[in-house]
Amino acid sequence: MVPPVRFNPQAWLAEARALIGAAHVLSADRGDDLSACTRDWRNKFEGPALAVLRPADAGEVQSLVRLAARTGVAIVPQGGNTGMCGASVPTAGGPQAILQLGRLDRILEIDPGNNTATVEAGCILQTLQEQAAAAGRLFPLSLGAEGSCQIGGNIATNAGGVQVLRYGNMRDLVLGLEVVLPDGERLDLLRGLRKDNTGYDLKQLFIGAEGTLGIITAATVKLFPAPGAEVVAFAGMSSIGQAVRLLGAMRARLGERFTAFELMSGEAVELVRSHFPGTPAPLEGRWPWHVLMEATDGGSDEALREAMQAALMACLEDGCLEDVVLAGSLAQGQALWALRENITHAQQMDGGNIKHDISLPISRIPAFVEQMLPRLLQAFPGARPIVYGHLGDGNLHFNVSAPAGIAPAAWQRETDAVNQLIHDAVAEMRGSISAEHGIGQLKRHEMALYKTPAELEVMRRIKQALDPQGLMNPGKVL
Ligand code: FAD
Ligand code: MLT
Ligand code: ZN
Repeated sequence: MVPPVRFNPQAWLAEARALIGAAHVLSADRGDDLSACTRDWRNKFEGPALAVLRPADAGEVQSLVRLAARTGVAIVPQGGNTGMCGASVPTAGGPQAILQLGRLDRILEIDPGNNTATVEAGCILQTLQEQAAAAGRLFPLSLGAEGSCQIGGNIATNAGGVQVLRYGNMRDLVLGLEVVLPDGERLDLLRGLRKDNTGYDLKQLFIGAEGTLGIITAATVKLFPAPGAEVVAFAGMSSIGQAVRLLGAMRARLGERFTAFELMSGEAVELVRSHFPGTPAPLEGRWPWHVLMEATDGGSDEALREAMQAALMACLEDGCLEDVVLAGSLAQGQALWALRENITHAQQMDGGNIKHDISLPISRIPAFVEQMLPRLLQAFPGARPIVYGHLGDGNLHFNVSAPAGIAPAAWQRETDAVNQLIHDAVAEMRGSISAEHGIGQLKRHEMALYKTPAELEVMRRIKQALDPQGLMNPGKVL
C-alpha cells in the first residue's frame, strides 16, 4: 500500500464529512473518543484510525470506498468488534479508516414461504434471531457474542457457534450477498436461491475473507421452522474418548433432533464457577470432562424429553457417560448454557490466556488431547489447559492459561512456543489452526507456515485481482 504523496488528513476528513454528514465521521483531532473501535475485544491489538466512518446505506459505503481508493486510504470494515483475531482494528502504517456497518441495521425482508431473511450487514445477530422467531422461524447461528456481533461480521468470519452440528456454519446459511468491492463497485449477489449453478459461486469468496476482499452490505440467509420443543442435558465422564462415543450414540438415536454437543473440561467449569460466584455445579461429583447437549424438535417437549432420557440412559449403561442431569425447566437449561458461554468471559477475567481454535477429524480428538496434555505440561510446567468447545464439529478451544504466579505479559511472551507445540501436532493430524475465529492479525504468520505454497499463491492472486492497491483491511489474513 502506497500512501499518497501529499496526503492531507484534514482535507480527507472534510470530503468524507461532505459525503455522509459530519456527525458520522468521527476523528480524534476533533476530540472524538475512538478507543472502543481502535482496540479489539481481547485488548490484544490496537491501531490508529484516521477516522471512524458510519455510513447509513450501501450507497454511502460506495462513496466512501471510492474516496479511499482515490486517495490511497485503507479501509478496515468493522461490525460488532467481537472478533478474536484482531481483524477488525487498524494496523500500524499508512492512513486507515474504520468503516463501521452499525447504521446498516435494517431487516429488509422475512420471506416465510422461502424460509429466508434479507438483512443489512450491520444487523445485530440477536435482532435477526428475534425477528425470525416472531415470524415463526429460526435463524440458527448462535454464539456468546450474539447480543453485539453483526451479520456482516458473522459472514466475514464464517462464524460457527453452538448449533453447527445441526445447521452448519455461516457459510452454510448464506444464500445471497451484496458486496461493495475495493474500487467502490456494488456486486449484487442478493438472491434467495438454494440451487444456482451459473458459473463461479462468487459469494463464497467473501464469506470468511475477514473484510480483505470487499465490504458486505447485505445478505440473504436461510431460516428454518422454529422448534417447539427443546431439551438440555449435562453429562460428566472420565475420558474424552467416552465423550466422542457419546456423540456417536446420541446422534444415532436422536438424528436431526440433536443440535448441540459442547465439551467442557473440569478446569473450564471450575474457572467459570470461580469468576462467576453463585454458578451452581450441575453434577454432584467432579468430572474431568463434561458435555452440554441440546435436542430440539417440532413436536412436544414431553416426547422429546422422553427420547432424550431414553438415549441418555442407554449411554449410561454403555459407559459413554457416568453421570447426567436433564434440565427440568427453561431456566435450568439457560443456566447450563450460561456455564458454557461464560468460559470466554472467565478466561478474559483470569488474564494470561493463549487461545486456540483448532479442528480435527472428530475420531482423532481423543488421541490428540491425550497426547497433547502431558506434552504441554512437560514443556510448560504449571501451565493450565482450559479445554472446551464444539466437540460435535471437531472444533476445540484448546486454550492454555498462565501457570499460577506468572504475570499475563510474561505468559504472552510464550505464545509462539505454545502455538508451535499445539499447531504442529494439529497439522500432523491434518487439522486446522483456525476452525471458526479466522486468521486476522493473530495467526497471519502461522497461516503461512501451515498452508501449502500453492494454496497461498491462489489466495494472493485472488487478493491481487480484487484489491490491487491492497487497501481492503491490510495486514490481515495474507
Ligand atoms: P468484527 O469483530 O467487527 O469483525 C470481524 C472480521 O469481519 C474483521 O475482519 C472485519 O473487518 C470483518 N467484517 C465485519 N463486518 C464486515 C462487513 N460488513 N463486511 C466485510 N467484512 C466485515 N465466534 C465463533 O465463530 N463462534 C463462537 O462460538 C464465538 N463465540 C464468541 C463468544 C464471545 C463472548 C465473543 C466475544 C466472541 C465470540 N466469537 C465466536 C467471535 C466473534 O463473535 C465472531 O467472530 C463474530 O462473527 C464477529 O462478528 P463481529 O460483527 O463482531 O465482527
Ligand atoms: C466459544 O466457543 O465460546 C467461542 O468461540 C469463544 C471462545 O473461543 O472463547
Ligand atoms: Zn467457539
